Amino acid sequence: MIERQDDLVRPEATPEETQFEEKIRPSNFEEYIGQRQAIDALTLAIAAAKKRGDALDHVLLYGPPGLGKTTLAHIVATELGGQLKITSGPAIERAGDLASLLTNLNAGDVLFIDEIHRLSRTVEEILYPAMEDYVIDIMLGKGPSAQSLRLELAPITIIGATTRFGALSGPLRDRFGIVQRLEFYSPVEISSILARTARLMKIQVDDDALAELAARSRLTPRIANRLIRRIRDYAEVHNDGVVDANVLSAAFALLEVDELGLDSADRRVLHTLIDHYNGGPAGVEALAAALSEERQTIEDVVEPYLIQQGLLRRTSRGRMVSEKGYRHLGIVPPHNDSSTAQTSLGLEK
Ligand code: ADE
Repeated sequence: MIERQDDLVRPEATPEETQFEEKIRPSNFEEYIGQRQAIDALTLAIAAAKKRGDALDHVLLYGPPGLGKTTLAHIVATELGGQLKITSGPAIERAGDLASLLTNLNAGDVLFIDEIHRLSRTVEEILYPAMEDYVIDIMLGKGPSAQSLRLELAPITIIGATTRFGALSGPLRDRFGIVQRLEFYSPVEISSILARTARLMKIQVDDDALAELAARSRLTPRIANRLIRRIRDYAEVHNDGVVDANVLSAAFALLEVDELGLDSADRRVLHTLIDHYNGGPAGVEALAAALSEERQTIEDVVEPYLIQQGLLRRTSRGRMVSEKGYRHLGIVPPHNDSSTAQTSLGLEK
């Protein structure tokens, strides 16, 4: 497995972190920072649905983890005046599990299905009529005496979330009226989110320190909020709780998070490509094997940020380290090699 410094810059939440996130999560669109396009689309659709007295169209949110899909689902449910019920694709094992979730919802409620691409085919098929006509058909008994029973549902909204839009079946994708991709945040947005968290945690962090933290947060609020808590711990132990430039550089060195927010695992991906494949191109399967890592982890978790930063490129022939990627590791990029020439992309440092 990729070696991790306590998974510090990985976007998945631990249970303890989920609790913390719940405490500080923005409770309305006004408090929510960033994701303007998604917020505008949702605000409009909610206003229109309310005006018509209809349920809100089903919503699909996709994009890298840690960007606020669950938070948005909470806000949407609040805006609709309904309850939010949270589940996930792998948690719904049988058709009956989904039927019982759905039949317990009231008008205006929201069912949030995380990792919706991991629903089984049978469960997914129960979802289709539920989404389209607010009914479910359940089979009673087996064999020739089996009977189908149709149950009416309240007008509810399904919010599906996925890191892998492409893994959704066409029919499922088509049943979402609102499809929004969540983007990485800008450094300024991450700084604002960090300032808000610092305020809520009653810790003092100056603007320079906020900007420095933001730069290492992989443009991801979950990671930003994780880093600020770890830095606070460090400051409490080593500097009477004061977060300053010295605390930051010492803490980041300890945490092995570099100035772009890369941890040792990210750097190992780039090093492996350079050492084993001359910088690439290498197929993701080969890369996964060389790193003893799951292909999916590389594709969903490691790659998106490396690509966003222009350190790695995904080409039809495989993954390649960019010139910026070489430089970031302190390695001189190969010369006159069209495979790493990045001039047209403006990726030079
Ligand atoms: N905390 C986590 N994500 C946030 C966001 N987008 N806006 C405000 N606070 C947040």
